[in-house]
This record gives sequence, structure tokens and C-alpha cells, in this order.
Amino acid sequence: MARLFFALWPDAAMRAQLDAARRALNVPGRPVPARNLHLTLVFLGAVAAEKIAAVDVGAATRVPPFTLVLDRLGGFPHAGVAWLAPSRMPAELAALTDALQRACRAAGLDPDPRPFAPHLSIARKIRDVIPAEMAPLPWKVTDFRLVESMRGAAGSGYRVRACWPLICAGSMG
Ligand code: 2AM
Repeated sequence: MARLFFALWPDAAMRAQLDAARRALNVPGRPVPARNLHLTLVFLGAVAAEKIAAVDVGAATRVPPFTLVLDRLGGFPHAGVAWLAPSRMPAELAALTDALQRACRAAGLDPDPRPFAPHLSIARKIRDVIPAEMAPLPWKVTDFRLVESMRGAAGSGYRVRACWPLICAGSMG
């Protein structure tokens, strides 16, 4: 069974900006490689192929594109993770996550029930992160993806399994 999650997946330019922000903030620990940077929307864990095929993401794709402004550095000390996060949750991000949670539950899946805390992990194996503000980094979000997490000797790797664009209201005809 594949280990799956829905995520926002930065493009190459955004990845470079996020990597530069991590360096500028002098974040300790083991950097998350630029190619692995992402923001998890809904974490599913191990899922059978037929169950994921039954998830209807239609409502999620009708959330309009939006800008997510990352402007906070923080950490989860218990998990040893440092992250970037928005100080303001866009309504579209809440709606997108909500729609995906519902779609997963409707398909008989069991998404992580904890309240959504949007964060993009930038370093692991840290002890302490001093929370800080940072120069706001705007991220234009125009799609979301289904991603498979693969664990190997060399650490985590990810494979994008599917991508859905957020539909602009103007393009719905
Ligand atoms: P993290 O960056 O805070 O570790 C792939 O592992 C992605 O899913 C990561 O973004 C990770 O968040 C998240 N993730 C891993 N295990 C999770 C869990 N049990 N619940 C929620 N998210 C999880």
C-alpha cells in the first residue's frame, strides 16, 4: 500500500525562494532538500489503490486559486521540525483542506483528524527553533497534488501521483 497525502507543491521558482529563505534565516538542523519542499493539506497514510481511486476531488478543484503568504518561522520541538507558515489562513486554504477531508471520508478513508496547522517543513532533526517573523513570501497556489511518500536509506523521497488545477471562476463558462 502506498503512503499518500494531498499537498501544495511549489514550482521550481518557489522552491528556490523557499530554500533561500531557509538559508537567510540560518535555520539549524538537517535542511529539507529543495526538491522535497511541500505543504501537506491532508495526510492519509497507507491507502489501498482502489480506495484512493474512489476519492472525488471535484469540490476541492472549485476552490479558486489564491495567494498564501508565508511570514512565520517556527517549529514543532517534539517532532524536531522547523517550518515556515502563514500567520493568516486564507479562506481558500481552509476550504480546500475541508473539501479534501470530506472527499476522503466519503470514500471511506480515515484522514488525520487533528486540526489543520498549515506548515511547510524546512529542516528536521532540530532541538529548538526561536519563532520569528520573516520577510513575507507570497506563494501563488494554482493546483494541489496527491503525493506518495517513499522512505529509503537516503531519507524521504516523494513522487507526485496526480495534480489537479484550481478552477478560476472565470473559466467555468
Ligand atoms: P511534517 O513535514 O510536519 O513532518 C509527508 O510525510 C508529509 O506528511 C509531511 O509534510 C509530514 O509533515 C506529513 N505527515 C507525516 N505524518 C503525518 C501524520 N501522522 N499526520 C499528519 N501529517 C503527517
